[in-house]
Amino acid sequence: MSTPQNMFARVFVVDPAGRVLFIRDHSGYWNVPGGRVEAGEEPAAAAVRELREETGLTVVELVRVHHEVYDFDGVAWAGYFYWARSVAGEPVLAEPDKAVELAYRDPTDVAFHPATSTAMASLVSSLVPGFEPTITVGRGAAIDGEHPASTEPADGRSTAGLQAFERHLDAFRGYQASPWGRLRYEQVATNLARHLPPHPLRVVDLGGGNGLDALQLAERGHHVTIVDPSPASLAEATALAREHGCAERIRTRQGGIEDLAGAAEDGPFDVVLAHNVLQYIPDRAAAFAAMEAVLAPGGMVSVLVPNPASDALIAAVRRLELSEAIRLLDAPTRHTLTYDLEVEALSPSDLAAGMVAAGLGQPVRYGVRAVCDLIADDEAKHDPVVYAELLRLENLLADRHPYPETARFAHLVSTKPEATRLD
Ligand SMILES: C[S@@+](CC[C@H](N)C(=O)[O-])C[C@H]1O[C@@H](n2cnc3c(N)ncnc32)[C@H](O)[C@@H]1O
Repeated sequence: MSTPQNMFARVFVVDPAGRVLFIRDHSGYWNVPGGRVEAGEEPAAAAVRELREETGLTVVELVRVHHEVYDFDGVAWAGYFYWARSVAGEPVLAEPDKAVELAYRDPTDVAFHPATSTAMASLVSSLVPGFEPTITVGRGAAIDGEHPASTEPADGRSTAGLQAFERHLDAFRGYQASPWGRLRYEQVATNLARHLPPHPLRVVDLGGGNGLDALQLAERGHHVTIVDPSPASLAEATALAREHGCAERIRTRQGGIEDLAGAAEDGPFDVVLAHNVLQYIPDRAAAFAAMEAVLAPGGMVSVLVPNPASDALIAAVRRLELSEAIRLLDAPTRHTLTYDLEVEALSPSDLAAGMVAAGLGQPVRYGVRAVCDLIADDEAKHDPVVYAELLRLENLLADRHPYPETARFAHLVSTKPEATRLD
């Protein structure tokens, strides 16, 4: 068998009765929806795209469940299988020229292609009984808080926490590729651009993950050190930097915010980023002190956190879950869908006070995604025209009172005072 040049991605969707969504092509075999991974495309992104093209369903949460190389008539294909743990919409046979039937079926009733039948049978048997009780097939809203509290520690430096970040990296990629993920990165870049001078800066991205924020900054000429405990995320950040011709401007250091000593060698820094990570850090005061210590006088700190105030609104407006909205008003924790972890609900104003207490200036507060998460029709967000207009609206609301108060993320940008001069 040759070395695989070809890749495919397929997606399991399971309904609450434990039936799997199957599609039957003209050869008569049943399969789960999916198809070829295009050149330059991530398998997770291909899975999201193929499911939408073939069935009209939008993935809300994606988990990778299997990877194997198959021999199809002497040609090697790398296969990636995903489980769409939560989807939006109702399935329809969206490409009738390519397939003849699409239906939720009992897995014991269908015939698979001989090359993949063993893997399919074992995947189905592992997915259906094990995962069925937590499956959500519905309007695709975030379901924070619906699951029982996890007992896993959320700190990425602990083994269990790190495993969660590594295990769900595919789900995180799927989120990054979604319109709402792209909005988050584009809006944060726009907010930051308002503060950054045009000359190259030294940036440290704490909990920088697979490096999408770092990449945007490196593409503008800045030098970025990514600090993260997850080796898989850092490896992906390095590969992305290489692909985009920024390898000499991005370096990675494995570690946590708590131990910045290694990264400090690359500093002091003009900019410190801590995006979507402080909810996983138990000691925020120590984290702010560490950030302040590696920042040059006059430098900037950019903190992004999910805004707990948005959760009740999203539950009520988007999902009509009124009792859940009432519960969320005072709930001290949130369940993160992507990593399946229970984390503290952080108040943006408490964080702002913590930044000031650490010697940083009073932050400017932006809102990221003030309206996107209140729109239940996720399919519409895939339309490029809708997306462009939504982005325009979101950018206009980012600093317009009162929208930042209830937006999905709070983005706090603070400056470290210049050193006091003793004349
Ligand atoms: C939601 S991801 C955010 C990644 C990136 N900042 C972004 O927004 O694209 C959270 C990241 O925090 C990292 N992390 C978890 N605990 C950490 C810790 N104690 N110090 C630094 N990073 C941590 C995880 O490995 C993961 O890559």
